[in-house]
Amino acid sequence: MTAKLLKGKEIREEILAEIKAEVDEIKEEHGVVPGLVTILIGEDPASVSYVTAKIKTANSLGFKEVQVNKPDTISEEELLALVDKYNKDDTVHGVLVQLPLPEHIDEKKVITAIDPDKDVDGFHPINMGRLVIGGSEVKFLPSTPAGIQEMIKRAGVKTEGAEAVVVGRSNIVGKPIAIMLMQKADGANATVSVIHTRTRDMAFHCKRADILIVAAGVPGLVKPEWIKPGACVIDVGVNRVGYKISKKTGKKVALLKGDVDFEAAQEIAGWITPVPGGVGPMTITMLMRNTLNSLKYKLGIS
Ligand code: GUN
Repeated sequence: MTAKLLKGKEIREEILAEIKAEVDEIKEEHGVVPGLVTILIGEDPASVSYVTAKIKTANSLGFKEVQVNKPDTISEEELLALVDKYNKDDTVHGVLVQLPLPEHIDEKKVITAIDPDKDVDGFHPINMGRLVIGGSEVKFLPSTPAGIQEMIKRAGVKTEGAEAVVVGRSNIVGKPIAIMLMQKADGANATVSVIHTRTRDMAFHCKRADILIVAAGVPGLVKPEWIKPGACVIDVGVNRVGYKISKKTGKKVALLKGDVDFEAAQEIAGWITPVPGGVGPMTITMLMRNTLNSLKYKLGIS
């Protein structure tokens, strides 16, 4: 079997066009556009590349984009003051602080300082709580899990009653996607297991997965023989394993590898996401949708 490729890059175009149409309509009717602030601390190459892509996408949609770059010597107090400034700014509907933060800054404190109504990452404990309750309580789904669920839904993968196995228990991906897939909802109703570094037999669990979501950050962790034939495999891993020269630009770019051995796995799976070009582009798209939704909540039109 050769798996169908779930290309976030292609699905993204469809969703971005829907978002752009709504932005234009709201601008015309209400004279406002979604405002997104991206706060980047330091110069970690992966973070710089993610934030650059977020800014580019926001601009292409006609959002107001405020880009704040600060050196990694910034104090926690200064960063909290910045967050507070944008919490109070009426033209801003989304405040995003790119993670990870330097060690001297308490990440939890910064996330909790973001106004939950502008927390377009969905990381604030209030939004995490809303996510657990589900249904109409939910305001902002975290972007990567939202992108994963959207891809699964659009591909027509059956989730109801399916065995879904999530590899990894991070607050950003593993925990929220597990909760989302177990909800009584469309694109959910799955039987979910979460496995992690202390799991006794990872292969055993992966082998029974109809939907296998891997977000461990370990290149090639999931072996092809762990994949159930016909399964839907979502690889969230974006591991920088070296460099290559881009054919397009001639520049040196990071060589990315997922958590799944893609070449072998695509012969067994029913659906699979490539790395890059799979989940990654969906994450940014969902962030844009959250920022638009934030404005819509404020205008009372959602
Ligand atoms: N670092 C890695 N992924 C993310 C994300 O989705 N949001 C933020 N703020 N930081 C990240």
